[in-house]
Amino acid sequence: MPVIATRLIEWHKQHGRHDLPWQGNRDPYAVWLSEIMLQQTQVSTVIPYYARFMREFPTLRDLAQASLDAVLALWSGLGYYSRARNLHWAARQVMQNYQGQFPEHRELIQQLPGIGRSTAAAIAVFAFGQREAILDGNVKRIFARYFGITGYPGKPKIQNLLWEKAEASLPTSYRSGEIEIYTQALMDLGATVCTRRTPLCDACPLQQQCIAWQEKRVYQLPTTKPRKSLPQKETVFLLLAQQQKLLLTKRPATGIWGGLWCPPEIGTDIDVVSYCQHHLSINVQASVKLPSLDHQFTHFKLRIHPQLLHVVSESLIAPPQFIWIKPSDALEQGIPAPVRKLLKQNFLTDHV
Ligand code: ADE
Repeated sequence: MPVIATRLIEWHKQHGRHDLPWQGNRDPYAVWLSEIMLQQTQVSTVIPYYARFMREFPTLRDLAQASLDAVLALWSGLGYYSRARNLHWAARQVMQNYQGQFPEHRELIQQLPGIGRSTAAAIAVFAFGQREAILDGNVKRIFARYFGITGYPGKPKIQNLLWEKAEASLPTSYRSGEIEIYTQALMDLGATVCTRRTPLCDACPLQQQCIAWQEKRVYQLPTTKPRKSLPQKETVFLLLAQQQKLLLTKRPATGIWGGLWCPPEIGTDIDVVSYCQHHLSINVQASVKLPSLDHQFTHFKLRIHPQLLHVVSESLIAPPQFIWIKPSDALEQGIPAPVRKLLKQNFLTDHV
């Protein structure tokens, strides 16, 4: 018997949930309904909906004969309404294709609308005691941590590996009721102990064997979805220098780097010399392009092209929006990270 199965079964006696309304009911219709309602929905939300639904439609035949409107009305407030439409449609298919007898094997259950592999397995386990592995979101998290599996579980390769682990973790003995307890224990552990944000590792029966625990990677697993590549923007920083001082300007309170001090910024398509002349009333002479800097924001990447400009003459620029400041003093002010990085490069001593 895999250690994980032994531990979970033992744990469930004391710490698992035993009093849920659909427990102790092997009616496949009741099991199916509860599993569909419990998808993406918490137990406490489901309980009253489940009770009302079972009162209104006590059998699969009642559901199949009901109008879709009546089903949707009972579902109202539970969300993800395609679940209700699929449920209704599937009930009619079971009536037609299986004479109202819910199929017993996971492969057949899985062919009904709205039932994926894990839900089909849960129904096969709870209704028919079949030895099948489940792998819903919570269970993926448990296995990713327990086996120390790095990689986004939505990727087919990782998903396949998790299914292999799920299969290999099943209890091997055929003692009656064992597969049901094991499966419920996995669900309960995922919901109450091995939670995403605040896992209670000290209360976990799998702590000793858990690779994520051993390697202190509980908070890194499962790996989150890889970010879509962000749009890239470009900008030019004007490093206007005179007498070892640099011109900085205070950014507007809103927007990126709100209220921080930055060099004046222009688009990459603008002529630097004439911009300085006409917009800043500064005549500049020599110009040195410094290596670009990359900075990442939540919604885009910014490539900064710093351009060092030697000031020949200036007028009109006065505080508070503008300051001439020594880089060492600027480091004491509120400045964004890439500007800080730039200032630390001592470009004034190198180039001016
Ligand atoms: N989530 C999905 N199926 C469940 C079940 N049978 N018990 C508790 N939570 C669940």
